[in-house]
Amino acid sequence: MNFFLETIQVLLLSLWYNVESFIHIFVSKKKKNIAGEVVLITGAGSGIGRLMAQEFAARGTVLVLWDINQDGMKETAGLAKQSGASRVHYYLCDCSDKNEVYRVADQVKREVGDVSILVNNAGIVTGKKFMDAPDSLIEKTMEVNTMAHFWTYKAFLPAMIANNHGHLVSIASSAGLIGVNGLADYCASKFAAVGFAESVGLELLATGKDGVKTTIVCPYFINTGMFNGCQTKWPRLMPILDPDYVAKKIIHAVLTDQVFLLMPKSMYLITALKNVVQWKQASLLGSYLGSSVQVDCHTNTSLHYKLH
Ligand SMILES: NC(=O)c1ccc[n+]([C@@H]2O[C@H](COP(=O)([O-])OP(=O)(O)OC[C@H]3O[C@@H](n4cnc5c(N)ncnc54)[C@H](O)[C@@H]3O)[C@@H](O)[C@H]2O)c1
Repeated sequence: MNFFLETIQVLLLSLWYNVESFIHIFVSKKKKNIAGEVVLITGAGSGIGRLMAQEFAARGTVLVLWDINQDGMKETAGLAKQSGASRVHYYLCDCSDKNEVYRVADQVKREVGDVSILVNNAGIVTGKKFMDAPDSLIEKTMEVNTMAHFWTYKAFLPAMIANNHGHLVSIASSAGLIGVNGLADYCASKFAAVGFAESVGLELLATGKDGVKTTIVCPYFINTGMFNGCQTKWPRLMPILDPDYVAKKIIHAVLTDQVFLLMPKSMYLITALKNVVQWKQASLLGSYLGSSVQVDCHTNTSLHYKLH
């Protein structure tokens, strides 16, 4: 196709996509049926992972739960059964350990079958200023929040590609789109998770595997305990999110094949502004929105990981 024709095509399609998304403000998108799908959720022993498990369970899926917290997973499994999961399997798996991911993934394939919806949710936060953060925790943050996604994709994506069917869900963070004072290692891990999920999504499209969908989730602080003690400067503009609300929005995004989900809605504007305004103004807006306030978060990483 020549330059002129391709440009016209792009302009017309862009116009159509905008009209389409305007229509969807009034007419809700068709939701896909996920009954019978095998859904694997990492970090399912608490927080958003547990709530997503319950939401997926209510849609008749087969659930596979992974966590390093056995008791938490057992509790989630019980709740998921009550919510209607057709089957629930849970496995102790430290996602930061590549060999363990491959070993437990093989076990899942033998005992349950191919995973068709993979939710990379396990996450940790150091909660320390960069120079105060122990090296071992910085490494662990990258291993859990980013590297684990590589290994789970390697383990479960081949079957999705072979069937041209599946869904990759990355629970990243708004800290994967905008830097935050006091969260340097966490931000680095989440920026990497966003870049990774977006790029693999593009790779799948480029190779014609459009049946494997991607959803990248970037929420602001959620009231799960992971960022206990964190305060928002302007609660109306940037509310601390309710975990139930977040889990429901994620499931809705999966059911409607939404690629990016940012929460709250103001994050769409803030992220766009960051990339268009000059640096001084971006930094001013950042301070206005509270980014210069030291994030004072409690972290439970020390419960799980021995520090060196
Ligand atoms: N809470 C927030 O404010 C917030 C905001 C944006 C994004 N997120 C992201 O949402 C996800 C879920 O967070 P949450 O708020 O539910 O926190 P959470 O601490 O309640 O849940 C995290 C779960 O991951 C598990 N986990 C930790 N290390 C693991 C490992 N190596 N292998 C397997 N499981 C492991 C923990 O045991 C825990 O059950 C995380 O990826 C987090 O970064 C959270």
